[in-house]
Amino acid sequence: MCGIVGYTGKRIAAPLLLSGLRRLEYRGYDSAGIALATEHAIRLWKKEGKVSEVKNEIESDPDQSIISTSHTGIAHTRWATHGPPTTVNAHPHKGNSDPKVVLVHNGIIENYRVLRTKLEAEGRTFLSETDTEVLAQLTDSLYQGDLLDALTKALNQVEGTFGIVAMATAEPGVLVVARRGSPIVIGIGPEETIVASDASAIITHTRNAIYLDDNDIAKINGVEIDIRTLTSARVSREASEIDWSPEAAEKGGYEHYMLKEIFEQPDAIRNAIRGRIDVDKGNAILSGLNLEPREMAEISRLLVVGCGTSLNAGLVAEYATEDFCGMHAEVEQAAEFRYRNPIVGSKDLVVAISQSGETADTLAAVCEAKEKGALIAGLVNVVGSTIAREAGRGIYLHAGPEISVASTKAFTCQVSVLLMIALKFARSRRMSIESGRCFAKAIADIPALVEEVLKTEDEIIKVAEKFAQYDHCFFIGRGYMFPVALEGALKLKEISYIHAEAYHAAELKHGPIALLDENMPVIALLNQGPGMEKTMSNVHECKARSAPTVGVITQGDEEARSSVDYAIEIPACPMHTSVVPATVALQLFSYHIARIRGCSIDQPRNLAKSVTVE
Ligand code: F6R
Repeated sequence: MCGIVGYTGKRIAAPLLLSGLRRLEYRGYDSAGIALATEHAIRLWKKEGKVSEVKNEIESDPDQSIISTSHTGIAHTRWATHGPPTTVNAHPHKGNSDPKVVLVHNGIIENYRVLRTKLEAEGRTFLSETDTEVLAQLTDSLYQGDLLDALTKALNQVEGTFGIVAMATAEPGVLVVARRGSPIVIGIGPEETIVASDASAIITHTRNAIYLDDNDIAKINGVEIDIRTLTSARVSREASEIDWSPEAAEKGGYEHYMLKEIFEQPDAIRNAIRGRIDVDKGNAILSGLNLEPREMAEISRLLVVGCGTSLNAGLVAEYATEDFCGMHAEVEQAAEFRYRNPIVGSKDLVVAISQSGETADTLAAVCEAKEKGALIAGLVNVVGSTIAREAGRGIYLHAGPEISVASTKAFTCQVSVLLMIALKFARSRRMSIESGRCFAKAIADIPALVEEVLKTEDEIIKVAEKFAQYDHCFFIGRGYMFPVALEGALKLKEISYIHAEAYHAAELKHGPIALLDENMPVIALLNQGPGMEKTMSNVHECKARSAPTVGVITQGDEEARSSVDYAIEIPACPMHTSVVPATVALQLFSYHIARIRGCSIDQPRNLAKSVTVE
């Protein structure tokens, strides 16, 4: 989704803004732009396509005067919502042709049509189809020499969400930033301030950052930062340290971020469970949940909400909670939850899962559940993100930055943390200390299981080579392996563009089997555990219809190996933890198929890293 960078300080702004934009490319975008300010003027360069094209425009500009002297600027990568991904719709947008005011914006101005009609009636003309230009023109119309004041007035007329950085020609060196539902981070350097929608754009310059709250607006003049609310009350926001290093956001010698992130999983999971597992007491220590044993005992249902990969992780929680805690658990697609008028109340714990912490539907589900009096916990990777703040309580994943659009390490960390939540609830109910110890030990063993799978990459490549030419494929599994099938199919389709569908293995006979023939491979989750024998029978049914088969099997299981055409092995482990190694095997399978097919793995077409619109 869209990305924002802004700079004011002692250094020349253009190279900093361009490198910030490159660090935001992973979010997915289709046009980009930069505006630079000097004492007398603001100039814009915008382009449909990649950041490199804006860079070329700037470098080939015959008038380098502003470029080589400007110390203040704003920049943006746009993922089209209102209007196609054209140069004219790209940000920054200006308030008039002069221009007095220029701004970049993430989010959606819902009442932009009404505002646009009103501004047109006042004689203003619009160049683009965007909601953002409406905001720029509105701010411009209210500007009387004070950008903070004009933007405050404009935002008080706006319905919707925004993360904004604005500049005014008459106020050189000044940036005004604001947020509602779309993040803004202010990075504080010794002689400069860098603002961004995402810490990855500022981390190479400073780790000291202020995260704005919703409805905050701030005027930044060099290193002076004046924060207010949109009702003009002065507020102070604590600075905190960004807890990952710049290297964490680099490829580190891997061909793609996705591969790097797949291989980071043993460490990422160790970070997610570090200090949170007490094998001796057979329990999990999850202080972020902030629930006393008595309060936990009073919770009668776990309701998990999320989207995409995070939703698939939630399904694992449903199985584990029912299995081990004897407690009702449900997982629900966040968009459905928010519009379905769900029955939730004070005895429900709603766990909102989100890597980015910014997914619009998950955020709305959190707000809806809050409204209805449920307890909310966020299970989020990005520190300080909107869902983490809105939830109030929760557990950070500590997976480190996930740059590849296709989620990998976030999923395995989510599953590991969800298993810890299940352990905690189980121990607050009927689970004995002995069973708790086994469960805790099984969670602590997950990183080593993943290491085992990563060692088999060469074997997985051989299988991927056999399957890269197919255009369709099924994934099947039962019980804990059903969410793995869903996640396997999601990964394959998003990065290789192969049409992949996941079914509960029992569902095959209820329709999908009609599609089976020699062109429809079936990937079956066949590792040992409850339901495996039945899935094996389904594999025989697939083979009888000429479908090529791959089995994810337990190491050394010769019977499973002989029932499929190709096998990918994972180490023996309990079914509930085998979700993680089985998923990692399928991540590698998908990755190598996409690589063989020459796909854009880290930034698949049409996808964005965080989906901040409905
Ligand atoms: C798939 C993927 C998406 C996200 C989904 C939710 O690889 O990345 O399906 O899982 O958009 O995103 P978060 O977890 O940030 O809420």
